[in-house]
Amino acid sequence: MPIFFNEKSMEFHLQGKDVSYIFHVLPNLQLGHLYYGKKVRHRESFSHLFQTQARATASCVFEGDLAFSLDQTKQEYPSYGTSDYREPAFQILQENGSRITNFTYRDHKIFSGKPRFDGLPATYVERDEEATTILITLVDDVISAEIQLLYTVYEAFNVITRSAKFINFGSEDLKLTRALSASVDFFDSDYEMVQLSGSWARERHVKCRALQPGIQSVTSTRGTSSSQQNPFIALKRPNATEHIGEVFGFNFVYSGNFLAQVEVDHYDVARVSMGIHPFDFQWVLKVNESFQTPEVVMVYSDRGLNGMSQTYHELYRTRLVRGPWRDKVRPVLINNWEATYFDFNEEKILEIAKESSQLGVELFVLDDGWFGKRDDDTTSLGDWFVDERKLPNGIASLASNIKELGLSFGLWFEPEMVSKESELYKKHPDWLIHVENRSQSHGRNQYVLDFSRKEVVDYIYNRMSSLLDEADISYVKWDMNRYMTEIGSATLPAERQMEVAHRYILGVYDLYERLTSEFPHVLFESCASGGCRFDPGMLYYAPQTWTSDDTDAVERLKIQYGTTFAYPLSSLGAHVSAVPNHQVFRETSLKMRGDVAYFGVFGYELDVTKMTAEEKDMVKKQIAFYKEHRELFLTGTLYRLESPFEENVTSWMVVSTDRTEAIVGYYQVLARPNPGFRKITLQGLDPDMEYMVNGEVRTFFGDELMHIGMHLEPEFSGTDQTNREMIGDFTSKIIHLKAVQ
Ligand code: DGJ
Repeated sequence: MPIFFNEKSMEFHLQGKDVSYIFHVLPNLQLGHLYYGKKVRHRESFSHLFQTQARATASCVFEGDLAFSLDQTKQEYPSYGTSDYREPAFQILQENGSRITNFTYRDHKIFSGKPRFDGLPATYVERDEEATTILITLVDDVISAEIQLLYTVYEAFNVITRSAKFINFGSEDLKLTRALSASVDFFDSDYEMVQLSGSWARERHVKCRALQPGIQSVTSTRGTSSSQQNPFIALKRPNATEHIGEVFGFNFVYSGNFLAQVEVDHYDVARVSMGIHPFDFQWVLKVNESFQTPEVVMVYSDRGLNGMSQTYHELYRTRLVRGPWRDKVRPVLINNWEATYFDFNEEKILEIAKESSQLGVELFVLDDGWFGKRDDDTTSLGDWFVDERKLPNGIASLASNIKELGLSFGLWFEPEMVSKESELYKKHPDWLIHVENRSQSHGRNQYVLDFSRKEVVDYIYNRMSSLLDEADISYVKWDMNRYMTEIGSATLPAERQMEVAHRYILGVYDLYERLTSEFPHVLFESCASGGCRFDPGMLYYAPQTWTSDDTDAVERLKIQYGTTFAYPLSSLGAHVSAVPNHQVFRETSLKMRGDVAYFGVFGYELDVTKMTAEEKDMVKKQIAFYKEHRELFLTGTLYRLESPFEENVTSWMVVSTDRTEAIVGYYQVLARPNPGFRKITLQGLDPDMEYMVNGEVRTFFGDELMHIGMHLEPEFSGTDQTNREMIGDFTSKIIHLKAVQ
């Protein structure tokens, strides 16, 4: 049982594979934190870890005791106003105006398994033996409310998940003005905070900063998790690298507004807080109602950032993603968006599909523009009826024609949106997220449907499910192309208006839940102007996400490198598109575009009918190569080797679970004049296995490749051209390693 309870000293020790997390009941009966880090043996008492000291200016809890102050106490789920001045995990506004609470330990339950949340995405177990959970109940007797803190420790992963549930069993309404999911007080602040920041077309760039006294945070107030900041942070020791050292990851299983914050206090304690952003949030908890916070997934690694990422990858691939597509390799797809944009008809689509099928593509995805009268982005969102001007025979007939060509068929939707120029808006102008008598800002000429209302979700569900029923659709691209503004709902009472952003996300999850359970054979890919909503909440419903609208191979190095900090390759949609690239106008080789896209869920997004015979031949080979190795790309262990944020060179590799096979991707952005020699130091191989490189006769042992490294062919030196593969800017190389039997 990896959760111990020391009855005498009232301590809890959560012990995972290589990790320990220890907390206890404080003298005031609230919960105090004692340790989070590398696994330690269990002992009868950890009480020596709890320290107090009388200090000048401290506010203290007990009369006559100058030492016990919450301000210098590490806590589990802290509150504000009773001697701790740091930002709390929660706050409750009461009818008398008070925000003071005192939630003290009442009892706990330790059990095998992990409970599921109703209506919220979360990691899960398939068998109870996979994890142990502790549910701790705290009670405030004055307001008769309960907080249930839930912690789950996985057996096989260095993962602890956390969440909190508020229950009002008193006689007055309560208002949650802050309800975070987790808070951890680290002993010291000698860490760097890693975050994934960006914007449209440059999502999830890795940023790192040393912690400083005060608050550092990343947030979203946009109604979705956003591309500006991802709901992920990691604390790493300054000497931790990709491969060594201690790292603590925090990832929020949620797709809306969030706060991920580290507050360094005056005693150098670093408090990590994560949850729904308290800004513009308030939840009315009526008598007998409860509020469940989403889950935070905490990962501990003493094997650097790669160690942390590998844990997230395996957990998410196997115990977050659900449904039959979890365990299946994904089809190589072609998407018509960059090939045609809105300008297509049935003939054109079938032409692309026919050509693609001959090249080995397995799935054709019809993107935006097939419904209403959508010839550009000003109209028709919400009118999910086929545009017979473009597709006179309807979706079902198109799908079956495409099937006859040997491809399966996928369809694009943007379920959460409406255009003002649409039948849906004419009928239901109040179905928008909006505030009466206020302007209605738009994004890409469109408006957000009020998914906090059940009838709105029901309507969209009916439209989507009838299309999925009538046509042979095996894939859905679920897009979402704007952030929220003027957040309000026509039907909720005034006191609940600050619940809208969260209720909206619950509506999105509800629609996903209904569609994925009714159509389990359909592979869902989430998308939000590319990667503006790439988070674990989405992955629970949609096993893959369109990583970015930016398909330029050079930009993708950074985007994909950063995204893999938390998310597995099997979740990263990665397509080869045309050049000059539509987002940055850069020209890279077809080879490099393919070599980058292999490290993800591979596909194409261009007009194959316009390619030369030579290009088509290359595409055929790329597809054949990906199909041969996709199991490895999608389920192998990823090692990031050289970072595009530090170097002109990027490299990464995937290694099979039995370590008998690996593929390395190596990329150089700009050519170097008269360069020195280069090698790549590999990772994750079996030191005693002998590997064949690219099918050549000469072999190397794993220890040589990991310690000496693999020497690369010389680059162009200005006089000779020995290495034809790496000449000029934007070059790449794929190296295949296979153990000799
Ligand atoms: C944004 C997506 O990211 C693109 O791939 C494409 O589907 C467009 N929307 C269509 O409007």
